[in-house]
Amino acid sequence: MSTPSIIAIDGTSASGKSTIGGLLAQRLGYIFFDTGIMYRAVTWVALARGVAISDEEAITRLAENVVITVERPHVDDGRQYTIRADGEDITWEIRSPEVDAAVSPVSAYPGVRAALTAQQRRIGRQGDIVMVGRDIGTVVLPEADLKIFMDATPEERARRRMLELRARGANPKYEDVLAAIIRRDKYDSERPIAPLSKANDAIYLDTTNLSVEEVLERVLDLVKGCDCWENERDVD
Ligand code: DC
Repeated sequence: MSTPSIIAIDGTSASGKSTIGGLLAQRLGYIFFDTGIMYRAVTWVALARGVAISDEEAITRLAENVVITVERPHVDDGRQYTIRADGEDITWEIRSPEVDAAVSPVSAYPGVRAALTAQQRRIGRQGDIVMVGRDIGTVVLPEADLKIFMDATPEERARRRMLELRARGANPKYEDVLAAIIRRDKYDSERPIAPLSKANDAIYLDTTNLSVEEVLERVLDLVKGCDCWENERDVD
């Protein structure tokens, strides 16, 4: 029995995908790739440069040209990694409410998705990777050896997001956080291209009543029992 080489974790906002994906990758000695940062980076650059979010052509050009890099953390401020756009450190900026509010329309543009999906595919196909997003199992890497779709109730996801924001010194209203999560999931699920949806062969995991350790344990069980040797990986 072999360990799945490409693991795709998709799911709703704040369902725990990145936390679990990061821990799983650490356990397996794999690369962890959170694809949401790419859509966030493009959105942040657009906002910083004063590009209107409604200007599809300009945003698409930006997505095609901006150089997004993920490196080992170069500052000890709680970050898992340092994210740069054209060399500038934007690790925390991409988590701002302004980016949260604008990232769904940006990620719905076909040209933006084409540019970022191509990069994600190139990286993912190298294998030994845990890739997290909305369309990894359906569009980016349908050949993934193991696909997991994570979800939790909107209320639980809002509670988790509140904790995260508070840890960074923010003090938002619970109702606002909940409304933003529901709005973003609706937008991401209803867009025509690569919408948030569970792949037919993905395993649905409801994390509402589970701790991080419990979710990780279940995912590790799935990794151990995966029928990955039956999947032919398309490597070209
Ligand atoms: O996972 P996240 O909240 O950081 O993702 C930010 C946004 O990016 C999300 O609202 C939808 C979009 N996204 C996407 O469309 N496809 C992906 N593979 C990852 C994220």
